[in-house]
Amino acid sequence: TDIPSLYKVLEKDFILGAEVQPIDLQGDSGKLLKQHFNSIVAGNQMKPESIQPMEGVFNWGPADEIANFARENNLYMRGHTLVWHQQVPKWFFQDKQGKDLTPSPESKQLVLERLEIHIRTLMNRYKDVVDAWDVVNEVIDPSTNDGMRHSEWYQLTGTDYIDTAFRVAHEVDPNAALFINDYNTESDPKKRQILYDFVKAETAKGVPISGVGHQMHISISYPSIQSVRDTFNLFADLGVKQEVTELDMSVYNGSNQNYNPAPDNVLIQQGERYKELFDMFRSMKDKLSRITFWGMSDDTTWLSGRNGHTLDYPLPFDSQYQAKPAYWGMVDSS
Ligand code: XIL
Repeated sequence: TDIPSLYKVLEKDFILGAEVQPIDLQGDSGKLLKQHFNSIVAGNQMKPESIQPMEGVFNWGPADEIANFARENNLYMRGHTLVWHQQVPKWFFQDKQGKDLTPSPESKQLVLERLEIHIRTLMNRYKDVVDAWDVVNEVIDPSTNDGMRHSEWYQLTGTDYIDTAFRVAHEVDPNAALFINDYNTESDPKKRQILYDFVKAETAKGVPISGVGHQMHISISYPSIQSVRDTFNLFADLGVKQEVTELDMSVYNGSNQNYNPAPDNVLIQQGERYKELFDMFRSMKDKLSRITFWGMSDDTTWLSGRNGHTLDYPLPFDSQYQAKPAYWGMVDSS
């Protein structure tokens, strides 16, 4: 605990955040959080399936716990997420009898009304503490004919759900930063360009998008730092805010690796890459307002059990809450 506070090392350049679950607020992990981060985001507790599991039934407990921690400790807080195609309950897209809606002007109106109520209710409860919202998450899909994800939202409303979400969010809290958030923006130039063109067209129409969120789930070998730099430079000329919203760095570069524990040389290599990454982030401080990690310590990373890896080690602190070379790489960055 006598090591430098990570957020204080970086606070002249940007805010530093971490994704948390209610359990992380307790005990030693709560202390680690307060020492090293000045912003938090709920990992699941503000998603539609958690907030409104049934129409008109709101489940505030877990989200309140996290929001209260931010209030009590004077942390910034991101809201994640108002609209997504995952972790959204089916009722949004069904009639009162539980039958799937089919596209029509009436079903479109119904879905947009439900969306509006959801956003108003959720944002009103947390607008004193949340300063930035992921209004829509992962709406770009480079494999479709128009580049938009053909989710149930899209099938029933076209892209109007996106316009409605931003317009309503802006009405509820004109001071909040309103983000369109997506993954692979740093690694897939085609997807990046589709997102760029979309944001440009939307803002030209007056849709109040104020920021682009780059999730940035990257790995120890991919993509290049230059590719990440190109990403920030591209969006900078739209004049929108940019944040890194879900940073982590998998130690794997293939699907048939499984470390337990992670070898020292791999963790050292990860530390060097974190330093290079943060050297670049810091050189971009005028274009980047916050970096949020998706977690704090490797024991709870969402990547363990995914992509064929039983355990992954993507974060600044290890499972015993000790600083990794990744942490020192960031402290040594300039
Ligand atoms: C993840 C959570 O961390 C997991 O606990 C949950 O099971 C699935 O969702 N992109 C996002 C986040 O925008 O909401 C996801 O969070 C990770 C990928």
